[in-house]
Amino acid sequence: MDRNALTATARALVAPGKGILAADESSGTIKKRFDSIGVESTETSRRTYRDMLFTAPRANDAISGVILFDETIRQASIDGDIPFPKLLADQGIIPGIKVDAGAKELALASGETVTEGLDGLRERLTDYVALGARFAKWRAVITIGDAIPSDACIDANAHALARYAALCQEAGVVPIVEPEVLMDGDHTIERCFEVTRRTLQRVYEQLYAQRVQLDGTLLKPNMVISGAGASKQADVEAVAAMTVQCLQESVPAAVPGIVFLSGGQSDQLATAHLNAINTLGPLPWRLSFSYGRALQAAALKAWAGADSRRTAGQEAFLHRARMNALATTATWTEGAEAAA
Ligand code: 13P
Repeated sequence: MDRNALTATARALVAPGKGILAADESSGTIKKRFDSIGVESTETSRRTYRDMLFTAPRANDAISGVILFDETIRQASIDGDIPFPKLLADQGIIPGIKVDAGAKELALASGETVTEGLDGLRERLTDYVALGARFAKWRAVITIGDAIPSDACIDANAHALARYAALCQEAGVVPIVEPEVLMDGDHTIERCFEVTRRTLQRVYEQLYAQRVQLDGTLLKPNMVISGAGASKQADVEAVAAMTVQCLQESVPAAVPGIVFLSGGQSDQLATAHLNAINTLGPLPWRLSFSYGRALQAAALKAWAGADSRRTAGQEAFLHRARMNALATTATWTEGAEAAA
């Protein structure tokens, strides 16, 4: 393991004015996205869609890395049959890979999950490195409910995240550590703060225990926000202030960057929140994005499965990428949306 190479990759992923495109939807999730635009999910339609995103002109101005799914890292461009990892790397975009096997029901628990995928992970990582992956992602899911999350759920997920991170670093791959506290529910922002802080603190305890080199990792957390079904929604300034406070109370300064997930927030709100977060500080880490839905929703709609709408899809994707890139340096405004 080359410690300096891990740090360099982690830092490159959070270079100023850049963030990550999460395009690692599993087959089940991408089918749901395609259902919403009336497109059948086949190996070919998935390749065509990802090809549209990955060939968007000058995406590398705003995108530092792309997280791929197992199927996608083995696919190639439509024009020229260039393997997707090479197509990205040739543009200066770092290829990454989702390596977890999904959140499964936690035994002896009700409504809680633990993310699986550690068995055979060392061998799979070797395979992914040969295919060009330089960073990875593992998503743990924490649900807020009446008597949950339990310590059993948080601890099981934190332990798995730390074992995944250690295996990644052994393979020379930067682990993105993603403990997502879901926004589903009618809980208050204060409850989200408390659960997110407890989760992050447990995750870092486990990362230390498993000897993970923190400066060769990135954190991918949720923002601290009101539950999606809560009658009172905290405003942008409150979200920014409470998110930053939560991170300051949990995340070691050695971590080079924090790349938020969008988690179901609308496109523009995810951008506004990131921008407001970056007006605060100074902070020890770079704060950027690793959005899935908030970077792709408009592009999916504009493309709608039609070859003739490929350029429209790319423009919609590039627009969101540029808006979020501005938000990483607190230079986004609503005016920038309108001007574009
Ligand atoms: P969203 O931004 O759509 O939440 O997706 C990010 C992601 O990669 C979740 O694991």
